[in-house]
Amino acid sequence: MIDFIHVSKSYPNGDVVLDDIDFSVSPGDFLVITGKSGAGKTTIGRLLIHDLVPDKGRIVIDGEDLTKIKSKNIPLIRRKIGFGFQDFRVIPDKTIGENIVIALEIAGYDSKKIPEKVKHTLTLVGLLGKENLFPGQLSGGELQRASIARAIAADPPILFADEPTGNLDKETSLEIFKLLQKINSDGTTVIMATHDVTLINLKVGRHIHLEKGKIVKDSKESKEKEKEKE
Ligand SMILES: Nc1ncnc2c1ncn2[C@@H]1O[C@H](COP(=O)(O)OP(=O)(O)OP(=O)(O)O)[C@@H](O)[C@H]1O
Ligand SMILES: [Mg+2]
Repeated sequence: MIDFIHVSKSYPNGDVVLDDIDFSVSPGDFLVITGKSGAGKTTIGRLLIHDLVPDKGRIVIDGEDLTKIKSKNIPLIRRKIGFGFQDFRVIPDKTIGENIVIALEIAGYDSKKIPEKVKHTLTLVGLLGKENLFPGQLSGGELQRASIARAIAADPPILFADEPTGNLDKETSLEIFKLLQKINSDGTTVIMATHDVTLINLKVGRHIHLEKGKIVKDSKESKEKEKEKE
């Protein structure tokens, strides 16, 4: 469903961020991407939504090669990927409910079904009752839930959650992680970028680790190698 094939990316005046990266994600996967700050996790997300293009290599989503995509098809690809931004990007002067409504409207969701969908999404992320609050009135964990709510409201098949537990305490991080697992078990492919070691140690899903532009660890590959040895 998602293939990164020999992908390299550097920014102008910068070092190589991703150097010949290969990985694939199948429908229903829970992929955790780790790496220290600056390792290129957000860059992978931005490449995925065609906010950036690779210098070399190809990114293929459901058979569509993003390096050859026609501009009219870019919104279709973006609709497939809900993006939970590292810095939330909820609209500050709109309530949480309004933020979700706007996300649904942008996705072209049937307007008659929007109120029910907002309620359903708020319930899923545990924010029902907070819909009339503004982002500035939420706690960090609630804000993260709101950001996830906005990303998944229109039922994209894929969720890219960028550092969803960034500044949260251990307990709240775990709650957010459990929410992502629930979203995954409901059928959404989840890609989570994090440097949170507590979460990595839970060994849930598949884990790839980025270092100096390379994938230095891929738990899927390790499992395949273990099988080969057997
Ligand atoms: N627009 C840009 N122009 C130049 N360099 C950039 C740009 N965006 C990112 N970089 C650089 O690319 C590298 C990778 O950035 P990226 O945001 O992908 O890292 P990250 O793994 O998400 O880090 P963090 O854990 O801090 O979020 C960093 O060294 C960063 O400074
Ligand atoms: Mg980042």
